[in-house]
Formats: sequence, structure tokens, C-alpha cells
Amino acid sequence: MAKAAKPVFVCQNCGAVSSRWTGKCASCEEWNTIVEETAGDAAPPGSGLTASRGRVIALESLAGSTDPAPRIPTGSAELDRVTGGGIVPGSALLIGGEPGIGKSTLLLQLCAALADRGLRTVYFSGEEAVAQVRLRAERLGLRDAPVALASETNLANILATLSDGRRPDLVVIDSIQTLWAEALEAAPGTVSQVRAATQSLIRFAKSQGSALLLVGHVTKEGQIAGPKVVEHMVDTVLYFEGDRGHPFRILRAVKNRFGATDEIGVFEMVGQGLREVSNPSELFLGDRDSQTPGSAVFAGMEGTRPILVEIQALVAPSPLGTPRRAVVGWDANRLSMLLAVLDARCGVSFGQNDVYLNVAGGLKITEPAADLAAAAALLSSISGTPLPQNRVFFGEISLSGAVRAAAHMTARLKEAQKLGFQSAVLPQAGEIDATALTLSLQRIPHLKMLAEQLAPCD
Ligand code: TYD
Ligand code: MG
Repeated sequence: MAKAAKPVFVCQNCGAVSSRWTGKCASCEEWNTIVEETAGDAAPPGSGLTASRGRVIALESLAGSTDPAPRIPTGSAELDRVTGGGIVPGSALLIGGEPGIGKSTLLLQLCAALADRGLRTVYFSGEEAVAQVRLRAERLGLRDAPVALASETNLANILATLSDGRRPDLVVIDSIQTLWAEALEAAPGTVSQVRAATQSLIRFAKSQGSALLLVGHVTKEGQIAGPKVVEHMVDTVLYFEGDRGHPFRILRAVKNRFGATDEIGVFEMVGQGLREVSNPSELFLGDRDSQTPGSAVFAGMEGTRPILVEIQALVAPSPLGTPRRAVVGWDANRLSMLLAVLDARCGVSFGQNDVYLNVAGGLKITEPAADLAAAAALLSSISGTPLPQNRVFFGEISLSGAVRAAAHMTARLKEAQKLGFQSAVLPQAGEIDATALTLSLQRIPHLKMLAEQLAPCD
């Protein structure tokens, strides 16, 4: 019995479904995100609307042996690192990022590298004409790679093409928001279209053992546009980020069913596309001006890899009643907290000053261990004293001003030593393996000790 399709109203932000239109979504409280769509045809299993009875399935134990997921090495150490050792056949990967950040470039380079190794790679562009993709390939020097290319947005055509001929090893859809299924009345990019397209493509990829790579647009807030369900449906979600003014690009895993999620890959956008950066610390510290007050080097960790990066602070007398606080590459709330701790626990007040904090190179730092380096940069700037050129800092600062231990302290110190640093200021708490470390270590229990060394001279 076919029922007439009933209109439903779907929130484009969270995917919540309601039976009438409202200005504000009752579920996620966003305004103007409700769009009328046609209800999908199939009733979900278990809803009581389907007649078929389930069959009994065999249950397994956790102790059984399973072969590790096979991997397609990408030929790029950075991409392998982020994906957890290569792309898994039959899996779906979503890559999000701002327009112009280099998603299409990255995927075209990946397709070409795999095609050159004899794998069948198919690239569907829904945004650019074939000629545009060819032009890019020419610029990248990849014209001769045997990548199968099409400009297409119709889901049915894409699935038919993929089922025809040799099984594809890698399928790229650039981007998922441009696809549309004829069976649905909603416009491309709406929740139901994106969901339907993702579902069909994932089903194809799983049944054929092809790896599926989807490009997703991001919203102004930096989230992948469309419903969160797409992020739930795929196996891996990567974000490609970076500052347009800088050539550096960071590929970050935020979800990975086949590996860790705290790894990053570092690339540099050059004339011939994206180049891997295997030693990011050297690059982030490249043009450091260490004689100026307000520059501190943070010995950070991204996943299993230590990365040294410069944190710059500028503290200047403010003409404003409410001084300015501006942060690039770090959390603004964290800066406010740090300023409050410096004021309340160390007696250094920034109340009359504008404060600017910047992480050099366009990197975004989320680690709490950056607190001590940021505090050192702020104290150095307010006192006008440059920090010793060969010193690194790390440690989390608590509201009491105590400096807390950070994870992987030995790895951070080793990386600093490798790059020629000679001293480090770090938490007193926490174990380190000092064998083979020649750095001089200053272990401090409280931020006050750093503030006393760099006290403002007024
Ligand atoms: P693109 O891959 O089109 O970005 P996205 O798909 O994420 O929107 O990258 C576009 C930017 O990269 C564009 O601004 C130009 C720059 N670019 C280079 O600097 N060098 C190159 O070799 C290529 C192909 C692009
Ligand atoms: Mg693109």
C-alpha cells in the first residue's frame, strides 16, 4: 500500500524532524533552519510498519581473532599518519574544510598517486567542470595519471557509472553537498539529500570494498555543513584547516574508527600543490624573531608527535576603558583565565593594557600545556624582557597558579634538544626520563616563580 508522501519539516542544523514549520528549532534552538522536505519512503525496521520477522543471528565473543583492517598506503606519510596507516578499503572518509583551503588539491593528488600505482580511482566533481579539474591537474604536474574523471551531481548516474566496468578502489565525491537524488524533492545540500546520497554511496562502497572519500563544506562556525548524521555515518572525519594567509595546512582527524584521532598531518601549499612537511617544528620556528620581548617557544604535542611552535604576545597600554583582548590560534577564554591567574596569584595586572596573543604559522593550539608558554610570552612582553633564545616552555596552569604536569614530557624535551634548545621551564610534578637529556631543566611548582623572574620593572 503506497502512502502519499507527507511533507515533513527538517532542521538543517541538527536534523530534527517536526510535523509543522517553526521559526526556531525546538531541538537545537537555532533560528530559521527548518525546511520543508518530503518524508522518505521506507519505514525503518522495528517501527512496527514492516511485516518481515527477523532471523536469529549468531553472537560472537570479544576474544575471537580478526585480521587487522587491510590498508591502502597513500604514499604520503602525513596522510597515512592521520588516517592511522592508510585508507581502509570499504570505508567512508569525510574531509571538511573552508573553501579554498586545498581539499580538492589534496584529493586529486591522492587519486593521482594511487592511480599511478595501478589502482582504479574515480573522481566525481560536482563543483567544477572537467576542464577546471584538468587545469588543476596540469598545474600539479599530474596530467598523465590515469584518474577517471567526471563532472556529475546526479546520484543515480554516479552509482550506475561506478557499477560499470572494473571495481573502483577509490571513489572521490567533491562535494557531498552538490549531489541530488531524483527520488527526493528537496534541493541539493538539504539534510535529506545529503543523507540519502551518503547512505547510497556508503552502501556501494561497503559492498564493493571501494574506499569512499567525501568532501564536505563547512559552515561559518567551522562545522561540516548538513546534519551531524553524516559525520556519524562515515568511518573517519578529517578537517583540513589553516590560515589562508599562511602556506601551512593541518589535516586533523576528529573521528576515526580505524585509528587514533589526535594525530595531525602538516602540509605546505606551494605552486605545485600540497607538499608534505615532515619536520613541522623547524617550519613553525623558521622565521622567529627571538630578540623581541613577548616571544616564547612552546614544546607541544600533536598526537604522538612533538611540535615546537612560537607563541607571541603583545601587551600595550590601552587608550580604551575596556582594554582589548585578541587571540589568534588559541582559546580566548583560556587567555582570560590566564590573565586573571597572573593578576590574582602573581600580582601582575594587565587591566590597563591591550593584550594580543598569536600562535605563529597559523597553527591552532588546543593543548592546556600551552598555558605556561603563553604566560611566559605575556610576562616577557609586559616587562619588556626578551626570553632566553634557547628556552622552551610547557605546563598547564590551574586557577590557583599551580603548574601541573603535562603528558609526554620526555618526548617534548627530546624534540627541543634535537632542535638545539638548551633549557626548558616545565612543571615540577610528573616523571621524566632524563637519560640522554642535556637540556638544563627548570622545574617550577607555581607560576609565581616565572613571574618573579620576569617581574615588570616599573
Ligand atoms: P582547492 O583545492 O581548490 O580548495 P578547496 O577544494 O578546499 O576549495 O585549493 C584552492 C587554493 O589552493 C587556491 O586558492 C589556489 C591554491 N593552490 C596553490 O597555491 N597551488 C596549487 O598548486 C593549487 C592547485 C592550488
Ligand atoms: Mg574544491
